Amino acid sequence: MKHFINLKDIESEDLKKILTDAKKRKYKRKNLNKLDIDKDYPLKGKILIQMFEKPSLRTRMSFYLAIRQLGGGTITLRSNELHLGKGGESLADTAKILSTYGDGFMLRTDSDKKISEFVKYIKIPLINGLSPSSHPTQVLSDIFTVEEIKKKPISKLNICWIGDSNNVLNSLIAASVKFSFKLNIGCPKKYTPKKSVLDWVKKNKKKVFIFDDPKKAVKNADVVFSDKVISLNDKVDVQKKTKEFKKFYINTNLLKLAPKSIFLHCLPRGNEVSDNVFLGKKSHVWQQALNRVHVQKSILMYCFNKLR
Ligand code: CP
Ligand code: NVA
Repeated sequence: MKHFINLKDIESEDLKKILTDAKKRKYKRKNLNKLDIDKDYPLKGKILIQMFEKPSLRTRMSFYLAIRQLGGGTITLRSNELHLGKGGESLADTAKILSTYGDGFMLRTDSDKKISEFVKYIKIPLINGLSPSSHPTQVLSDIFTVEEIKKKPISKLNICWIGDSNNVLNSLIAASVKFSFKLNIGCPKKYTPKKSVLDWVKKNKKKVFIFDDPKKAVKNADVVFSDKVISLNDKVDVQKKTKEFKKFYINTNLLKLAPKSIFLHCLPRGNEVSDNVFLGKKSHVWQQALNRVHVQKSILMYCFNKLR
């Protein structure tokens, strides 16, 4: 079994294998209903436990469909309904029980430390369904979407991120190293990615390009990504931070500087992008959301050692 916790800790070759499997599976399901099971029934009888310490629509739904389409099932737990959430049971005991009842564990948490603690005790694959520092299932799926739409390996494309240096960007930075693509980041100086993240990029002999001018960042991009300015774990002065990002608002004028670009956003959205862009021709956000089902199926296959 394998965990899926951070893109930076997974071999490029494995990440690429996941995407290849997702492409094949998606193609084979063309005429199937949402709950029809893939012909090979690869995860027959397996149960994925999902636990959410924070809200979720897409991650919850897409993992539900993913495991069902592979022949398994899922149960969703809310941490505040467990003894663990109320402080009445240790994480170690909880992990042992989860390992007894379940075959896989997907966790969305407000603490990176909790993930590393679970890794110590859990005996089944652990999938990070978003933490304060990363959102790996989202970003791997986004790479799938980019390659599907652009019909090219992402290594041949110019990728741009306009927005906060948050969990999604951290995973995108990790992906830029693993998949060797050029990444421009447009954000206010005060919000540049953490030194530890940039040091890791340097250590891997790669570079990301950071601009405090959105026009420079976006110029000739093939893909423009964005995300909410205020993330779930953000304990900030919302008005102040929103104001600091005003210059980085994504509208049709900005995207004119990247005429061939598509627009992607993991959702939910805030006020960082105009309706004209978000609902416009360049935007592929609905396809992006749906692809999470397909890629997460192959992530599950990877975790269960079933990828060929
Ligand atoms: N993009 C994403 O992870 O959405 P949810 O928070 O709704 O799961
Ligand atoms: N950066 C966002 C992503 C939501 C899917 C957050 O953490 O809230």
